[in-house]
Amino acid sequence: MIPIHPRSKLRGILGRCGMNKVYVIGIGPGTADCLLPIAQREIEASDCLIGGKRALRLFHHLHKEEVLLEGNFEKVIPYLLKGRERKKITLLVSGDPGLCSFLGTISRFLKREEYVVIPGISAVQIAFAKIGEGWEDATIISLHGRKMDDLAERVSASSKIFLFTDQNFPPERIAVHLLERGVENRRAVVMENLTYPNERILATDLNHLRGMEGFGLCVMIIKKERE
Ligand SMILES: C[S@@+](CC[C@H](N)C(=O)[O-])C[C@H]1O[C@@H](n2cnc3c(N)ncnc32)[C@H](O)[C@@H]1O
Repeated sequence: MIPIHPRSKLRGILGRCGMNKVYVIGIGPGTADCLLPIAQREIEASDCLIGGKRALRLFHHLHKEEVLLEGNFEKVIPYLLKGRERKKITLLVSGDPGLCSFLGTISRFLKREEYVVIPGISAVQIAFAKIGEGWEDATIISLHGRKMDDLAERVSASSKIFLFTDQNFPPERIAVHLLERGVENRRAVVMENLTYPNERILATDLNHLRGMEGFGLCVMIIKKERE
């Protein structure tokens, strides 16, 4: 008689023959209704989820093995390389994996056929949908773990900027930085906790923004004021 294995056991057996593919899945801005059905399906079929606190919280109810990502993603690479022999491992990425995620690092450690990327709805898409505008002409800049080096020049050179902020570079600090470098006549829209019940959207200008504080998870759109 041919033995019938449950799916998870079968994956383990297949994993020993070949190697389980690693999944890199975009979870969107963070709420369940912005998660693509294909992402949900692959996450449910995973054995282990690796991600930040916010991403893991969304899937606690699935009772998967969880690995919390804090800081350097490269720290979990040895675990990932070994673990995929026996488990289907999924890396949860906020928004879309193609934008400012650790996809670049993955492609340095795994061969192309060893990982699968599932797109997600990016904070860029949500933000521009909120202001009812397209973003094909926008310059996208991330300050996540970076410096503000050439920010003023880039903002000056573009009439539509999208910014991924960072806890070290909150909106008010960005406003001060730009104003000190002579960037003026700019509208700023700060969008905090997009799609969550405590979502907040503030349309202002750089001068007002410099005096504000207390922003959390947010993005910004900076636009030239009409002359
Ligand atoms: C490392 S980037 C990842 C971007 C992501 N791959 C994407 O496509 O949206 C993380 C930044 O995205 C922004 N972000 C992610 N989710 C957000 C949300 N729900 N509301 C506001 N900003 C968000 C914040 O600026 C955060 O610092």
